[in-house]
Amino acid sequence: MKPGMSRDMNPGAVERAPLALDGEPRFAWRGVMLDVARRFRPIPELERFVDLLAAHGVNVLQLHLTDDQGWRFEVRAYPRLTEIGRHRSASQLGHGQASTLDGVPHEGWYTQHELRGLVRYAAARGIRIVPEIDVPGHARAILAAYPEYGVGGAAAVAERVTEPWTRFGIDDEVLNVEESTVAFVCAVFDELCEVFDGELVGIGGDEAQKTRWRGDPRTQQLLVERGLADEEELQAWFLGRIAGHLAARGRRVIGWDEMLEGRDPAPDAVVASWRGPVGAELGARLGHEVVLCPDLWTYFDYRQSDDPAEPIPVGTVLALEDVAAFDPLPASSSTALRKRVIGLQANVWTEHLDTRDRLDYAVFPRLGAFAEIAWNGGPLDWASFAERLPGYLAWLDEQGVDYRPLDGPRAEQQRPGVPGVPRDRAARIAELERLTASLRSAPVVE
Ligand code: ACM
Repeated sequence: MKPGMSRDMNPGAVERAPLALDGEPRFAWRGVMLDVARRFRPIPELERFVDLLAAHGVNVLQLHLTDDQGWRFEVRAYPRLTEIGRHRSASQLGHGQASTLDGVPHEGWYTQHELRGLVRYAAARGIRIVPEIDVPGHARAILAAYPEYGVGGAAAVAERVTEPWTRFGIDDEVLNVEESTVAFVCAVFDELCEVFDGELVGIGGDEAQKTRWRGDPRTQQLLVERGLADEEELQAWFLGRIAGHLAARGRRVIGWDEMLEGRDPAPDAVVASWRGPVGAELGARLGHEVVLCPDLWTYFDYRQSDDPAEPIPVGTVLALEDVAAFDPLPASSSTALRKRVIGLQANVWTEHLDTRDRLDYAVFPRLGAFAEIAWNGGPLDWASFAERLPGYLAWLDEQGVDYRPLDGPRAEQQRPGVPGVPRDRAARIAELERLTASLRSAPVVE
């Protein structure tokens, strides 16, 4: 057993959902990622979520604590992160061109004391919390608080970024790559390590846009001084510095598969592969442990049917039946990947999940199918799962979970008039191929 994969903690007397979760689990990492940056959820709600995860045999909760839209983690050395980063004046309503702003302020943050309590609470239920601070992209909440860490000088950044982002999407703002910025990020991770005692720490690394780095003379000077070929290598340099700092503290990092662009920043990192199999295959061939979370199968913010009544339909269709059909290691998977996969993770991005009930709607009952696959391997035998489904839904009712009914959203679960951006599966697969092209052609020294 790898050091990072501590044996399942004794979960005590956790009541299990009536699902097929018996015997030895197939995967050591049975994870769920929750985005509390886009939508803050108070601690009692997180405890309830932890209870529900434990009942599904989930043993990892990745907490996405920071993003463009909010910073939720108290950092004593840098108080403005929560003073400024915890609050935005409004949130985007809907998705795409037709979206608007809701005009409703949103805020929240966790003290270190509260999070220590949550770590203990989860551990007592057999769940490890893996905290994530996302760098160098998804950084607008940082830059609203400390513009000196952005690209182009503090004054220019302060003009561009006046508060955490009220919009959703991928933004050009990124951290700069000065030594002072590395020192700042390392200091933040130092405090994170004091609160979260597990070996693994999330550093993000996803969707960092390179436009500002490309257009900034100072960044280009640093790139050349450091002997780096391009902005992808610069990203790897940055992530490598953070990973190295954490390694000196006895920690290992987990990052999204973009982490492998440019060059490998940390040989012992865990790669969370979300953009199809390409990052997973490369990570495995480079010797990384891999967590599979391909968006087409495990993104629980994606719409659950083609029905226009689905609330704010985004992403491709990911119906309960589709989750059940998830084959984490299809016949095309390499031997290296089979050896290196440590588990599966469902990711819950919360742009459009602004209440506990909307979170319930997105997560359940899809988590039931995912949990069985994480425990037994996949795909599920639908006829067999369908036999357990009525009992499982009755159990969700007993727990007060506002899940999505099998025949579609109830009236109060719909969001009439709020636009989404439904995606077509073939178009998304083509986009993923384009996005991961550089990983496919990456040289690997075996
Ligand atoms: C991600 O979905 N940006 C990891």
